[in-house]
Amino acid sequence: MTVTTRAANLADCGKSEEEAGRNCGLGTDMKQTVLLPSLHLATYTPPGCSSGEEMHSKGWRPRWKPRSGLMLSLPLASCTVEGANSDADSEELRQRIRAAKEKLGDRLMILGHHYQRDSIIEHADETGDSFLLARTAADSNAEHIVFCGVHFMAESADILTADNQIVTMPNIRAGCSMADMADLPDVTSCWNELLDNCGLGDPATRDDPDLPAPEGESYLVPVTYMNSSADLKAFVGHHGGVVCTSSNAEGVLGWALERAGKDGKVLFFPDQHLGRNTALQMGYGDDDMAVWNPMLAPDWQALSGATFVLWHGYCSVHQRFNVEQIEELRAMHPDALVIVHPECDREVVEASDESGSTEMIRKFVADAPPGSIIGVGTEIHLVKRLDAQYPDKDVICLDAGLCPCSTMYMIHPAYLAELLERMLKDEVVNRVVVPKQIADDAILALDRMLAIVA
Ligand code: 13P
Ligand code: SF4
Repeated sequence: MTVTTRAANLADCGKSEEEAGRNCGLGTDMKQTVLLPSLHLATYTPPGCSSGEEMHSKGWRPRWKPRSGLMLSLPLASCTVEGANSDADSEELRQRIRAAKEKLGDRLMILGHHYQRDSIIEHADETGDSFLLARTAADSNAEHIVFCGVHFMAESADILTADNQIVTMPNIRAGCSMADMADLPDVTSCWNELLDNCGLGDPATRDDPDLPAPEGESYLVPVTYMNSSADLKAFVGHHGGVVCTSSNAEGVLGWALERAGKDGKVLFFPDQHLGRNTALQMGYGDDDMAVWNPMLAPDWQALSGATFVLWHGYCSVHQRFNVEQIEELRAMHPDALVIVHPECDREVVEASDESGSTEMIRKFVADAPPGSIIGVGTEIHLVKRLDAQYPDKDVICLDAGLCPCSTMYMIHPAYLAELLERMLKDEVVNRVVVPKQIADDAILALDRMLAIVA
């Protein structure tokens, strides 16, 4: 499907498939029609199953439903942008954004995640990983915070800012397929089954769930990765749990284990890889971890023996990296350094010299000696930017096919220009608002994280 759009459609954030395509993002700065992702679910057949009976015989749960983000199919829509088709148009957009920014002055703060394209990053007041940007939003007094990143990041910014501050996104449809892999009904039923079957307490029943568990008591402590919806953060906050990001997962898991007690457990969602890689770094072994897949019957033997119950989610961008890519790089350049994001598979992290958040990756490259060859396992826009920023180093994406995050790419300067110009007319579009009831619980989990890593 080809959808031609104008940036002025910014406020019509999609309901139908066509509108979704219209709003889902923009292609390159050149005049061309490009394939774009669309958050639509495809019909899904579990691996190795061709019929319902086969699904049953292989242990797929009867309550399985085609809803989880695991079933994302990318891409489904294509889109042409009018008004951003040439170098001249790009320059015009740049000038429009600069002019609007200047007029808005201190009223405005633009936050840009490291995976954003350069034509967005150049306008950001602050760039960083999801933790740094959350902390920046929390510390900001700006009336308008424009989040150039994905939806869960803007939600967290809204939760962490005052009620009179307005958080918006240039394209509100920029989501995260990994965050979509866990939803509240599935996590709640997992939670209830674990409590019932493992004889654990709910930290919400404690007088003060922030204190370590008393001797002899065992709890199930929920930990959610920042890449999750606000209602999951609220669930976690309500049940005495905490949010983590890739830059602080070890400290946060240590905190959670103390609150779980000696025989307690941590339920970690949605990214199994960050959970596994962090637990391994903390000295835990394979037997200490079990995966919870809501589409499969639970393996109670593995689950009862595990300290960490890991949700089955993953990032499709970071799944593209593998050990062979690292071996190939090292065969060509034996001195090459390798750093990957902890959303990569365990084998990839183990084969690397280092793993860390996008901000840690940036620092690793900055600190590497001149002349270094550095293989990086993360999103391509960050890798290419680092390569350009450090001409005395060779920064290479481990995946030769390049690894774009298609949802981060949905933020385009044409949308940013439009958003800011409407702001100048006191029109607020694409506002991200977390309902108060959800925000009140979610902030408990976010504040715990900020306190742990303070
Ligand atoms: P960071 O917190 O490392 O920026 O990670 C966010 C993310 O979405 C990585 O895929
Ligand atoms: Fe989500 Fe992966 Fe994109 Fe990060 S890179 S925003 S985890 S889809």
